[in-house]
Amino acid sequence: MINFCGLKLKNPFVVAAGPVTNTIEKLRRAEEFGAAAVSTKLTFLKKPIHGVARYYTEPRLGLVPMFDPRMEVAETAKLVSEAKKQTALAVFCNMTHGGDDVEGWVEMGRVLEGAGADALELNFNCPNITLTEKVLGNANPETFGALIGQDPDACRRIISGIKQSTAIPVLAKLSSRVTDIGRIAAACKEAGVDAVICACGAPSLPPTDIYNRGRIHNPHHSGVSLASLLGSRANLFHAFANVATVTKRTGLPVIGGGGIRTWEDAIQIMMWGGRLVTACSVLMLKGFKAIQKIVKGMEEFLKTQGYGSYEEIIGLSLPYLQMGSEIKAVPVVAEIDPKACKRCEKCLGLAHCEGIHWQGESIVVRTGHCFGCGVCRALCPQGAIRMTEAR
Ligand SMILES: Cc1cc2nc3c(=O)[nH]c(=O)nc-3n(C[C@H](O)[C@H](O)[C@H](O)COP(=O)(O)O)c2cc1C
Ligand code: SF4
Ligand code: SF4
Repeated sequence: MINFCGLKLKNPFVVAAGPVTNTIEKLRRAEEFGAAAVSTKLTFLKKPIHGVARYYTEPRLGLVPMFDPRMEVAETAKLVSEAKKQTALAVFCNMTHGGDDVEGWVEMGRVLEGAGADALELNFNCPNITLTEKVLGNANPETFGALIGQDPDACRRIISGIKQSTAIPVLAKLSSRVTDIGRIAAACKEAGVDAVICACGAPSLPPTDIYNRGRIHNPHHSGVSLASLLGSRANLFHAFANVATVTKRTGLPVIGGGGIRTWEDAIQIMMWGGRLVTACSVLMLKGFKAIQKIVKGMEEFLKTQGYGSYEEIIGLSLPYLQMGSEIKAVPVVAEIDPKACKRCEKCLGLAHCEGIHWQGESIVVRTGHCFGCGVCRALCPQGAIRMTEAR
């Protein structure tokens, strides 16, 4: 059990907005496999673009959605009301609208709250509605999604308007395409937001086919706008940074995600400050059963490590987030265990390192040349290298 903005959730897992949360059948499956909450697919008062689903996918790397169909508010209201009748899920409604029309946001919020939504999730993150247009040279695109997420005043204006007209929690899903996500989160806090979501990857493009004159690697689409590489483990480290920054700067409850594939990933998001965790791509690549594995793993971890509740792990890593000037390195050097070393040479000849060389039949660390960076230890497949305190 974990508290989130006055809601009591059975665990911290929220299915993130996407093609996994756009029908009642999918929401029922999400609950069946253990999700506590869902964010419904992005909703508009009126969809500005229409298209069909196309995703560039590399199972190990992640996927770049080239297009994913959105919903209109009446459709989402129906989905929410069915979800509240048929499941015990907490339902957050991911929605966006033009940044200059606060009344439109308020209207959408009213309809979704009326349908039974547990929270309104303001989408300030979607990169490929209008941010792409701006980046590619349209001087004055309409302001939606990630363009709002770059503008603290727009965030403030929309949140204040909605907060005055709703009784349910208001969440802001932030864009990671900003220099200082803490500043945007602080603006959201000033306007009264109840929680923020940090779960977005950096803008990306899919690979090109170098043998087909650079055509993008998806024969079923004419082109691609800047989307994000999602479900990638690389995003996870970016997510840690965003979650930790926002938590430290604002103290707001944070739903963290971006690249979560395993329960260990989810636990780390919480240790960096996340109150809840959220994932989408892993479910597209492995099915809803991935939720069960993640939740079970998290619960077993709490039990075996002696934590009494999820609350106890939130923010445990935050004291390690320090100013660069405060960080002190412990002096260490690498040491190779000659019995464990198989002389595979994987640690040899690293471009930054003059510390490892052959000595007769053995590979050894050269005294006085190791500065203790730790790269060789990570590369050794035998676990033959350990770091010891420098004398
Ligand atoms: C195909 C696809 C569609 C998505 N649609 C939405 C959306 O409608 N609204 C939104 O806020 N995020 C959307 N996202 C982003 C996810 O909600 C999530 O924040 C992101 O994928 C990072 O999590 P992951 O790495 O677990 O996928 C979408 C992601 C994917 C892959
Ligand atoms: S710890 Fe770094 S510097 Fe030392 S031997 Fe290994 S790679 Fe080289
Ligand atoms: S990587 Fe490990 S096993 Fe391979 S040579 Fe270096 S120490 Fe030996």
